[in-house]
Amino acid sequence: MANKKRKSNSFKRGPLYTAAMTLRRASWIAFALLGTSCGGGGGTTTPSTPPTTPQNATIVNGCPSLVDPIAARGDAIGGDTYQTFARPFFSMWCVRCHSVTLTTPAARSGAPEDFNWDVEASVRANIGRIRTQVGVLNSMPLTPPLPNCDERRRLIRWIDAGAP
Ligand code: HEC
Repeated sequence: MANKKRKSNSFKRGPLYTAAMTLRRASWIAFALLGTSCGGGGGTTTPSTPPTTPQNATIVNGCPSLVDPIAARGDAIGGDTYQTFARPFFSMWCVRCHSVTLTTPAARSGAPEDFNWDVEASVRANIGRIRTQVGVLNSMPLTPPLPNCDERRRLIRWIDAGAP
């Protein structure tokens, strides 16, 4: 026992100990530098960039980024259906650009021609993209007026429940 103690004390004063402490300090400095070089970029996303970090409470474009499902298939979700909730939601927030009745890029403000949210089949065919834009990146609608965070969450809940 006593022998071991003496050994560890002499280790503390020896060149190996000094080297170890220097290494430890160096790794902390490297860690700190890494931290600063990665810390600046958050917050801005472009609509076509898929989310890469699944972190729940992150605020993106002013609302929580709902990466994980917020409902399970078949949940009651207050009785919301395509007819009673989703259709009016898209009419209110999306079809001034994403409508089958708008046939030129100018009239659609550049919205892709196949993405028509007044056509139920188009909504269903692109439900994953819609989820990403409305509830993860919070980047659609592209310009104001914008739905608030609760309205976004309600659409995501409808999608996650299986879009009844
Ligand atoms: C002011 C016009 C405008 C409104 C309103 C609008 N969008 Fe868009 N949307 C665009 C344009 C322009 C693009 C193509 C460029 C882009 O992706 O940023 C687009 C692209 C998209 C895409 C495809 C993005 C991708 O890369 O997968 C989806 C999905 C989408 N919009 C959903 C919606 C939904 C849902 C709403 C309503 C909540 C909405 N948009 C409202 C203009 C609009």
